[in-house]
Amino acid sequence: MTILEEAPPITAAIQATGVARAFGSVQAVQDATLTVERGKVTALIGPNGCGKTTLMLMLAGLLRPDAGEIRVAGADPRTDSAAVRAAIGWMPDQLGSWDNLSCLQTLTLVGQSYRIPAAQARAKGLSLLRKVHLEEFADRPTRVLSRGQKQRLSLARALVHDPAVLLLDEPANGLDPRSRVELRQYVREIAAEGRAVLVSSHVLAELDEMVDDAVFMSKGRTLGDDAARMVAHARTRYRVWSLDVDALRRALTDASVPFEEAEGGAMVSIADEAHAQQALAWLVGAGVPVHRFGPAGSALEQTYMAMEEDRR
Ligand SMILES: Nc1ncnc2c1ncn2[C@@H]1O[C@H](COP(=O)(O)OP(=O)(O)O)[C@@H](O)[C@H]1O
Ligand SMILES: [Mg+2]
Repeated sequence: MTILEEAPPITAAIQATGVARAFGSVQAVQDATLTVERGKVTALIGPNGCGKTTLMLMLAGLLRPDAGEIRVAGADPRTDSAAVRAAIGWMPDQLGSWDNLSCLQTLTLVGQSYRIPAAQARAKGLSLLRKVHLEEFADRPTRVLSRGQKQRLSLARALVHDPAVLLLDEPANGLDPRSRVELRQYVREIAAEGRAVLVSSHVLAELDEMVDDAVFMSKGRTLGDDAARMVAHARTRYRVWSLDVDALRRALTDASVPFEEAEGGAMVSIADEAHAQQALAWLVGAGVPVHRFGPAGSALEQTYMAMEEDRR
């Protein structure tokens, strides 16, 4: 590759280093460091009260850090809050009540608050309502929406000004299973448009299929690269179930494949989906009556549990 063909350096959408914030004597965030890349979904994971919302408010420029450095789309929220506000879409964990405004009025007003002309804001609002399947509620007051519909409106609201970065605070909270699946699809679509998404949750399983990267947080601190490596490792664990468990274990032993025994079969380590496909084909070809085969549970959950164990 010649120097002319080299891609420009990729700057992260969010870069935060050593961020801290206290409320009186409560040290809500002690030391948070994270990077959120464009085109990816990054999870911010940790138990209730560990400081996720406080950190996200600081990233959104809505709360001042006591210490640390934050850059959002290259801008510092302390000195360039307008640039940060334009770059960020914020979906709070609780949607404020907008009473009698209709869904479309709400989105139009939010758009106008970003200085988008009314007609354009309205058109954008309509297209977003269509995207989150709320078009039939366009002219109805927001108070008639169910919890799941409100979350969808809240997501649309966060997207009105086409932000480069989206912060979603516990977006799946209180959603029924169907709405969760839809949320996952929306979030993946938003990332595929090249936006950076940071999504917080204390419920791990719902994030597993949604995220590319994970940042773990505990008692106000982010836990660094160890966690990311553990997630990558956990993702390589597959579980195989066989009608004939002995035949499975014999085949693995004969082929010198390391495995752990698990009820109804075995756990093996597989690098990626292509290798999983080969392994499955090989097992079936060898006459092992495999009836189930897949990743061994939630990678994020395994990591979280392992970290909790470390701290005990
Ligand atoms: N405005 C506030 N005033 C006082 N304490 C707060 C405030 N906001 C958050 N806290 C405290 O800071 C800690 C972290 O809270 P939060 O960031 O909401 O955590 P999470 O979102 O992970 O549940 C908690 O102990 C919480 O009680
Ligand atoms: Mg919170």
